[in-house]
Amino acid sequence: EAAEKGGFEHFMLKEIYEQPKAIRDTMSCRIANDGTHVVFDELKWTPEDVKSIDKILITACGTAYHAGLLAKYFIEKIAKIPVEVDIASEYRYRDPLTDHKTLCIVISQSGETIDTLAALKEAKRRGARSLAVTNVLGSSISREADQVVYTWAGPEIAVASTKAYTTQLVALLLLSLYMGQLNGELDAELEGNILSDLMNVPDQCQQIFDHVEDIHAYANQFKEKEDVFFIGRSMDYALAMEGALKLKEISYIHAEAYAGGELKHGTLALIISGVPVIALATQRNVEEKMISNIKEVKARDAFVVGVVQEHDTEVAKCVDAIITIPKTSNFVVPIMTVIPLQLLAYYTAVVRGNDVDKPRNLAKSVTVE
Ligand code: G6P
Repeated sequence: EAAEKGGFEHFMLKEIYEQPKAIRDTMSCRIANDGTHVVFDELKWTPEDVKSIDKILITACGTAYHAGLLAKYFIEKIAKIPVEVDIASEYRYRDPLTDHKTLCIVISQSGETIDTLAALKEAKRRGARSLAVTNVLGSSISREADQVVYTWAGPEIAVASTKAYTTQLVALLLLSLYMGQLNGELDAELEGNILSDLMNVPDQCQQIFDHVEDIHAYANQFKEKEDVFFIGRSMDYALAMEGALKLKEISYIHAEAYAGGELKHGTLALIISGVPVIALATQRNVEEKMISNIKEVKARDAFVVGVVQEHDTEVAKCVDAIITIPKTSNFVVPIMTVIPLQLLAYYTAVVRGNDVDKPRNLAKSVTVE
């Protein structure tokens, strides 16, 4: 097993560090040689195929569901197709308005999650076309879906998903660009810019790894805490949910994610002196609003770690500590923002002496209801 870990103490850490390669592998086969546009040889859709989609339904569980929440922003902003995202176990048991004009996208690392598979079957039964985003060739979900987009993350062993998630984001962002290209909603220049930012990500990840000691220090600071809050707006809200999930699943610290604007509607009552708040503020269009949320929690004496894009001095001025993400566009930044959150969860679990790769009560793949 030590050999399989390739010199890392845990599979999770190894998989975190494999992300630059996994991201590169997932995107490179889907970007034209001149870097200007997306090509999906495995899909070969026509403009009509995309124009006939009325609505996209994304369904998944756990971390894959969180990737789906981000995909809603990608698809609606880029391809202008309405998207609903549903937890697979919820979708199955409501009376969903799914029909032949719906494209159902299921996301699953393993391709074996029972609820996701059942949701896919239900959407198909109602007439939807279907597409699976999965990491495992020949998995049950890949066989059930009409079409498959594989993430090329390689085997993921640790229960807490890391590289599967970031490659799902890459695949879903590329898919949004592909749909926007085909239905005419996407400006060619914007596509080129997003792709060039995306192609820089594998190298930029290194800048995050270079500051791993800072994250280690926060983990030491958080190890005795009972609660940690993650706040964010827009895409950062979806990331906040993933950050909170990572922390709770392996460190066993209670963690909650809130949309910045929701603080006033309840959560603020829980913010007392010294409570850690991870404030994700990478999205420029909502930065001012995030700053006012940060001030709200600072006024209650929370310990705030701001997560910002490089050179963002406005947020830096009002937080206690800062994690910096290399500069890129709003669409691409989530792929990197999650990495320090994964590392924070990892080191917090390590300093608490937990079994990082096999957290209590959890399984890698949930194949029973
Ligand atoms: C389990 C795993 C999670 C994963 C979820 C969905 O709960 O512990 O890490 O996100 O299942 O798995 P899937 O294979 O469908 O992505």
